[in-house]
Amino acid sequence: EKGRLLFAGPVDFLKGVVAMDGLPPADRIEVCFAGRSNVGKSSLINALTGRKALARASNTPGRTQEINFFTAGTDHYLVDLPGYGYAEAPVAIVANWQELLRAYLSGRQTLRRAFVLIDMRHGVKAVDEEIMRLLDRSAVTFQVVMTKADKVKAADQAKVLDQVRGALAKHPASYPEIVVTSSEKGEGIETLRAIIATLE
Ligand code: GTP
Ligand code: MG
Repeated sequence: EKGRLLFAGPVDFLKGVVAMDGLPPADRIEVCFAGRSNVGKSSLINALTGRKALARASNTPGRTQEINFFTAGTDHYLVDLPGYGYAEAPVAIVANWQELLRAYLSGRQTLRRAFVLIDMRHGVKAVDEEIMRLLDRSAVTFQVVMTKADKVKAADQAKVLDQVRGALAKHPASYPEIVVTSSEKGEGIETLRAIIATLE
């Protein structure tokens, strides 16, 4: 239920990282959350941890510009990645994010899974395909998490899910199960927690 202790110990923001040498020690099971700007990454982390304003959810796309590390109990890091596909971000900043993202995904030994968030209203876009290819190349298993399910009727969700399955078929690093969530309504949150809990 809401507010219950979800991880073995407190959940806290640890640090925002802008370069590889700023990464915290790789001493825990780590999962990261990737997705287009505004897809709902920060909101999902808030919902998973039961902490409303932990990962600052914002209406301003591209606000989360660092790799944000959250300690979830003693055993896990939850990692909020910079949103991609935000056209108005300055080119130099985009290039810097991409370089950092590439280095992080290919070099982080304790990274167990990436969750690629896809907006239920939009399905998989070209920029999502790009991140999926990067995950393939980095040999990071990734799993799609649909966000904002509360905004789409069930009948329309089925069509979007078909499109997502079609896209996933092309990616060797993809994990077949798609998790449908709404951070707003709490849908799928328990499922996602259970998935994270099984990673070793
Ligand atoms: P960046 O950090 O800018 O990349 O964005 P983000 O992916 O972290 O998105 P964020 O969590 O800030 O959410 C963006 C907007 O979508 C906010 O206005 C949220 O309130 C809204 N939002 C997030 N999740 C949901 C959801 O499940 N349902 C609905 N209806 N709105 C959501
Ligand atoms: Mg964010």
